[in-house]
Amino acid sequence: MRAITIPKPGGPEALVWAEVPDPEPGPGEVIVDVRASAVNRADLLQRQGHYPPPPGAPAYPGLECSGVVSATGRDVTGWAVGQQVCALLAGGGYAERVAVPAGQLLPVPAGVDLVDAAALPEAACTVWSNVVRLAGLGRGETLLVHGGGSGIGTFAIQLGTALGATVLVTARSAKHERLRALGAAHTIDYREQDFVEEVRRVTDGHGADVILDIMGASYLGRNVAALADGGRLVVIGMQGGRKAELDLGALLAKRASVAATALRSRPLDDKAAIVDGVREQVWPLVAAGTIRPVVDRRLPMADAAAAHRLVESSDHIGKVLLTTG
Ligand SMILES: NC(=O)c1ccc[n+]([C@@H]2O[C@H](COP(=O)([O-])OP(=O)(O)OC[C@H]3O[C@@H](n4cnc5c(N)ncnc54)[C@H](OP(=O)(O)O)[C@@H]3O)[C@@H](O)[C@H]2O)c1
Repeated sequence: MRAITIPKPGGPEALVWAEVPDPEPGPGEVIVDVRASAVNRADLLQRQGHYPPPPGAPAYPGLECSGVVSATGRDVTGWAVGQQVCALLAGGGYAERVAVPAGQLLPVPAGVDLVDAAALPEAACTVWSNVVRLAGLGRGETLLVHGGGSGIGTFAIQLGTALGATVLVTARSAKHERLRALGAAHTIDYREQDFVEEVRRVTDGHGADVILDIMGASYLGRNVAALADGGRLVVIGMQGGRKAELDLGALLAKRASVAATALRSRPLDDKAAIVDGVREQVWPLVAAGTIRPVVDRRLPMADAAAAHRLVESSDHIGKVLLTTG
């Protein structure tokens, strides 16, 4: 088969579409013939040599895919050859075939095109596990999503809105109209406006009950300032650095909490539990059309370098997909 290899870490040109050995299904794994994968920000770090795959994961990038089951390993139940699926991966999505632990497979939701289904698993699992399972976002609460135009952000807007929350987002202004169409109640241009002031203004001083943050250090103090009493800040990205000072007094006075999580390095059983939760609670919303995959564009997998350049420029909204054949 062919896969995107990274012979030497570097810029987008480091991605090389090359012949590699086919994967074999281990016990509890299935082989998926990949129809599409999606570019995640983490893939850019992996390409640069800063985010190696966890032990046991395929060497090739790609944290999600859609495709067709072509083989099943020992002890796999509930999945059959020929079934259309999408999957959460620890790596290896940028390939014609990938071995996937069966617990990380999801059926393609009704009404979703097989290629577009590749846009769903990573965003659905990340957003649901943090915003719902961890932070417990409730109906009538306010959710602030940083980077509303990202793959993660466009999913969070839709899920938060579907759950009856008011969703506020930060994004560059060129993306605002699209994000409001997805359900964002208020859009903040983080380059022109102070998001703390804006959140306070539009919530009548209440603040955000839950914040889904991708910036990390550069936003920590301001995120705590934007939280409501009892608010929950969940950090899932460190685009603005990893080290910052935290004013525990400010947190304590609000009885607020800060958490940080990563999906890729979780143990298999935890990933399977998240996938189960997504299948039970999120997939019906997708099948009903309440949540849709947000696809900026599709590019051939051999053009992964062009896809990385696009995601690096941040001119995309939602997901950039890579298709085989
Ligand atoms: N921890 C986990 O398990 C996990 C899982 C998946 C993703 N993530 C993280 O989630 C983030 C989004 O991932 P993705 O693949 O969806 O990325 P993506 O599509 O490449 O989006 C990155 C976004 O960052 C936004 N951004 C840049 N500077 C900003 C700022 N100062 N304030 C607000 N937004 C800003 C950009 O928005 P503009 O174009 O509007 O500037 C862009 O939409 C990444 O940091 C990724 O590492 C974490």
